[in-house]
Amino acid sequence: MNRRAIVAANWKMNGSLALVNSMASELSKVSLNENVEVVVCPSFPYLAAFSFASSKANLASTFSLGAQNLSEHAKGAFTGEVSTSMLQEVGVSYVIVGHSERRSIYKESSSLVAEKVQAALAAGLKPILCVGESEEQRVSEQTELVLAAQLQPVIDKIGIEKFVDVVVAYEPVWAIGTGKTASPEMAQTTHQFIREFIAKIDENVAVKMPLLYGGSVNATNCEELFAQADIDGGLIGGASLKAEEFKIICSAAKGK
Ligand code: PGA
Repeated sequence: MNRRAIVAANWKMNGSLALVNSMASELSKVSLNENVEVVVCPSFPYLAAFSFASSKANLASTFSLGAQNLSEHAKGAFTGEVSTSMLQEVGVSYVIVGHSERRSIYKESSSLVAEKVQAALAAGLKPILCVGESEEQRVSEQTELVLAAQLQPVIDKIGIEKFVDVVVAYEPVWAIGTGKTASPEMAQTTHQFIREFIAKIDENVAVKMPLLYGGSVNATNCEELFAQADIDGGLIGGASLKAEEFKIICSAAKGK
């Protein structure tokens, strides 16, 4: 097998120009395992600055820039929105789509998420598609149903053959920013469900698809999580704002 691992930093609405510069220079000192890519996703106003800081710090091509959201529209009268071409012009190659905060706070539906994934792929951006269940859904044993209902509209929209360019991030909502991580076994079981869900439609796509875990990943728990058979890295929130901790997490990832 030759599946790459990805560690993506989701800064959310945090960070500053000072963090952009210090993170780019700190990341230039990390040595990554083979077949690992690191993606840093700051807020829109810092994307161009991160691009600039990465070239200044001589960051290797294994480091990429990601956005946290995008518009499903190409251009026009959509005040406050950001298009794929704008993102690409400032050096973005990945984009987080359907993060649980967008789904719950900004009411993004799975069909809107599917449109955004389609727009990203059409422009040549790599979407990091987030899926995950709430605590209530986990307790009432709805996890698999919820994940299937979040994945299916995207598959229906783009077609399974294009899914090969999608990175999926499983983020149980109850584990995001709470310090409550899914146990490595629970995360693995859910990742396996997601991979098998895709494999039932196209085995080849399922084998190649990087599947990240997110939700309170830190320097202490990353190694055990990343060692699981179906966990190919992580989407890191809080811990990605601290360079020392984030560097440890990046070094722990290994391609499978
Ligand atoms: P967290 O966030 O690592 O702070 O839990 C992860 C995410 O929301 O992507």
